[in-house]
Amino acid sequence: MSYDVEALRAREFPWAARGDRIYLDHAATGPLPQRARDVQAEANLNRAELWRVGFEYFWDGVVKGREHAARLLNATPDEIAITTNTSQGVNLAARALPFRAGDVVISSAGEFPANIYPWMGLEKAKGVFLELVPMRHRLPDEDAIIAALDRPNVRALTVSWVSFASGARLDLQRLGEACRARDIWFVVDAIQGLGPAAIDVKACHIDILATGAQKWLLSPWGTGFAYVHRDLIQELDPPAVGWLSMPASADFTRFLDYDYAFYPDARKFEVFTAPMHDLKAMAASLSLFLELGPAAIEAHVASLADHVVQWCAGRRDVTLITPPERSRRAGLLSIAVDDLAAASARLATAGVSHTVREGGIRLSPHLYNTIGELDIALAALAPR
Ligand SMILES: Cc1ncc(COP(=O)(O)O)c(C=O)c1O
Repeated sequence: MSYDVEALRAREFPWAARGDRIYLDHAATGPLPQRARDVQAEANLNRAELWRVGFEYFWDGVVKGREHAARLLNATPDEIAITTNTSQGVNLAARALPFRAGDVVISSAGEFPANIYPWMGLEKAKGVFLELVPMRHRLPDEDAIIAALDRPNVRALTVSWVSFASGARLDLQRLGEACRARDIWFVVDAIQGLGPAAIDVKACHIDILATGAQKWLLSPWGTGFAYVHRDLIQELDPPAVGWLSMPASADFTRFLDYDYAFYPDARKFEVFTAPMHDLKAMAASLSLFLELGPAAIEAHVASLADHVVQWCAGRRDVTLITPPERSRRAGLLSIAVDDLAAASARLATAGVSHTVREGGIRLSPHLYNTIGELDIALAALAPR
């Protein structure tokens, strides 16, 4: 179960095949594969002269986006709502889940603010309190998170699948089972895991999953999706109400027959109009993941990460912040060095895209990167 990386580079990432850049910054923003660029360019032309194509041409990105996202998650398209970023999905969870005053939401310290502020906002709005479980050695502490679920009045757990800073990957199945056993809602910010790692939302008992597609899913800014478990859809009231969320708007010749009745599926959470040609590009990018296969991609990225882990293990001048075990990381690797600014400057000089986050150099290789590229990056990171 593998794919031809060189052929993939030539076809979808020609700038990488030419050696223009060593791009190891998918944890920040992903580049667009050729197929998404082509779709976007074509859609841009068609947008300019939109009488040339029908509405269906643009709407196709929404339909395929839901279908492809569902396949990536092991969900069904009726459980997918198209969103424009991760935050929209997290806000959907925070505002739609039927919390009562005094309820408690558990999360981990060290979360990216997109999965913190929407929950903090609940304190004033609904009297719901967010409690953060301290990290252990700069990593989320899974045992302590599970122990915290037994505190009084806990109604929800919300975590990032993969930490933006350390790259630590949580065991979603374990956490999901712990939530299920206690009848607690389980919300996941998947943006740093989905793409380099495969997921099954059913096996993990996830109630709501939020992700933008702009990073590891190699899609335009302003694209993303949320998964809402089928059993919850009826129960939840959308925090923002869209005109296309109702079957009453399905007939475009008769909008004024208002009927405040939502679709029985996740369309009720969508708020249109969205960036339609970017969604077409997202659908194209997601098709690449389905073609290569999420498991094959995960295996490729894991082998790249193994290389970095082994390199770090053999040196005294760098410290890997990311957990070394395969099961506890995905594509994001964080490495502490003595002089971060100097290391970052050397990487930049070597033409390696990366970021500095929370005391570490963040290298985030993906499905088309190679060991050869990593070797150039690592040589620049710690030259002696
Ligand atoms: C864990 C995590 N969540 C969310 C985001 C971004 O949120 P949004 O897609 O709403 O911009 C990031 C990175 O920017 C992130 O690392």
